[in-house]
Amino acid sequence: MCGIVGYVGHRQALNLAVDALRRMEYRGYDSAGVAVVGKDADGHNAIHAVKRAGKIANLDDRIAEVGVDKFEGTTAIGHTRWATHGRPTDENAHPHLSYDGKVAVVHNGIIENFASLREELERDGIELVSDTDSEVAPHLLAQAYNEGDTAGDFRASALKVLNRLEGAFTILFTHADHPDEIIAARRSTPLIVGVGDGEMFLGSDVAAFIEHTKHAVELGQDTVVYLAADYYDILNFDGTPAQGNPFTIDWDLEAAEKGGFDSFMMKEIHEQPAAIRDTLAGHWDGERVTLDENNLADTDLKSFDQVFVVACGSAYHSGLLAKYAIEHWVRIPVQIEVASEFRYRDPVLGERTLVLAISQSGETADTLEAVRHAKAQGAKVLAVCNTNGSQIPRESDAVLYTHAGPEIGVASTKAFLAQVVANYIVGLALAQAQGTKYPDEIREIWNALEEIPDKVQQVLDTREDIAAVSRALGAVRTMLFLGRGVGFPVSLEGALKLKELAYIHAEGFAAGELKHGPIALIEDDLPVVIVVPSPRGVKLLHSKIVSNIQEIRARGAKTIVIAEEGDTAVEPYANWLIRIPQTPSIMQPLLATVPLQFLAADIAEECGNEDIDKPRNLAKSVTVE
Ligand code: F6R
Repeated sequence: MCGIVGYVGHRQALNLAVDALRRMEYRGYDSAGVAVVGKDADGHNAIHAVKRAGKIANLDDRIAEVGVDKFEGTTAIGHTRWATHGRPTDENAHPHLSYDGKVAVVHNGIIENFASLREELERDGIELVSDTDSEVAPHLLAQAYNEGDTAGDFRASALKVLNRLEGAFTILFTHADHPDEIIAARRSTPLIVGVGDGEMFLGSDVAAFIEHTKHAVELGQDTVVYLAADYYDILNFDGTPAQGNPFTIDWDLEAAEKGGFDSFMMKEIHEQPAAIRDTLAGHWDGERVTLDENNLADTDLKSFDQVFVVACGSAYHSGLLAKYAIEHWVRIPVQIEVASEFRYRDPVLGERTLVLAISQSGETADTLEAVRHAKAQGAKVLAVCNTNGSQIPRESDAVLYTHAGPEIGVASTKAFLAQVVANYIVGLALAQAQGTKYPDEIREIWNALEEIPDKVQQVLDTREDIAAVSRALGAVRTMLFLGRGVGFPVSLEGALKLKELAYIHAEGFAAGELKHGPIALIEDDLPVVIVVPSPRGVKLLHSKIVSNIQEIRARGAKTIVIAEEGDTAVEPYANWLIRIPQTPSIMQPLLATVPLQFLAADIAEECGNEDIDKPRNLAKSVTVE
């Protein structure tokens, strides 16, 4: 996490960098800062840095206090931070400067050997002013530039320092004596170059510069890029030439902005029909399911005898649904595990194991490490990912991209539904290859999937009814979510959304587990959401949950019942009834999740959280374990 931006060109760099940071803020908002390479009062080259704890608005205020005219210059780097080492304070904010004030550095990731480097710098009499691991880098660069065999050579000094850093990082260096250059490097965490006309950009992702150019270059692992206004040079860490991967960005700026909604999250909830449609697109050739971006041969798909799903948070919940679908359609066992636990035990994997790694960002460190572990054990890894060119798909054997578009709201909404759809596509491809479903059965499921975007739209159209529920509930203190069958992962997802957005206690349970403990939580007026399975599906499941609703009502709970149209059996037991269209049971989560997203956003507002796009303590992509 942390967002990084850079600019070298012919325009005033300050505003450009701050605007780019605004679009990176979803990656972390513990602090923000920029450094512009310009001149001091005597006309000498100098770095002008400004940084502040908190959101970018604080940085804006600080810049206004100091005066914009103090930041003249056409080269800048910037950073928005998600704190790892050191509290979110002004001192710990980036950029960090060197002891001689000539080097500015922004950094994303972790420098694992920072303690020994820090000791070494302190022995040399250098006083470090922050608690961060990052601050060692500018001092080391200044030392390398000021003395020894790399003295006066910015590029050689940067390479020398980079080769001393251990860990995963993206790092940008500027030097006052080289006002028209930036040197940047990436090891594991992302960095993209934007190529403009007489100007170059850097960003943790393309949203940093899509306003200015659609031409981008993805940097490979362990590469360094040297940037000037009109050219870039990519090197390996040993200084030998390396290649990047040029591509044209197909997102436009509007896609990355709010489009008339109060928040990105609201916009993204409303984009779900399109996200599903786009994720399905191209995977049905009229006869068969196709996995076009997938490198797994049909023989591989045929050979798998078990599936392991690894993912975190909402992506994990989408994986729980993959288990229901794949076991039902393919009749092979599916295990699922939160990625952070996976490699720390000893999962039994082999050549015939398919590991499904699900990640919106493609950067989540826990999932990435699980992928590496799975590959080391000889399993085949298929990534389900929303971010082109990110690390998880790069390290996987194959990838199925979700096409949800950029998700800026920190709480996942459209990417979650797109993941569920992608998981189902994988399930159908496996069923097809292994012959566990007849072609006409697969076609029928596919047709039902294709109807989902319109049905999601119907749920979106009930927005006002759902808002009325939250208004009536007000600022609740705790809330429970119950489900059975595929409704259980939905209840987990509903509870997670509420925790994230409203900062209140919320829990999801399998409704059948209630009587084994959680029912003790039920008290007068406790709001409980119940996701009711279709009465047209497994009849017993439906009647059991109706009994569960009665049990909690008898103990004073207020029930918010999500049930499909025509399910009259639940009507007497619902304080509020939210209707969703009829659909096959396995697809119901794609509809039932939507009201829970609205509910979480509305209750967050009732509870006083005004910025649902950036819930406290969270970051969009979690690149630390
Ligand atoms: C919840 C949420 C997180 C992510 C999780 C995994 O709303 O967004 O729980 O789902 O951090 O992130 P990705 O999918 O990027 O690996």
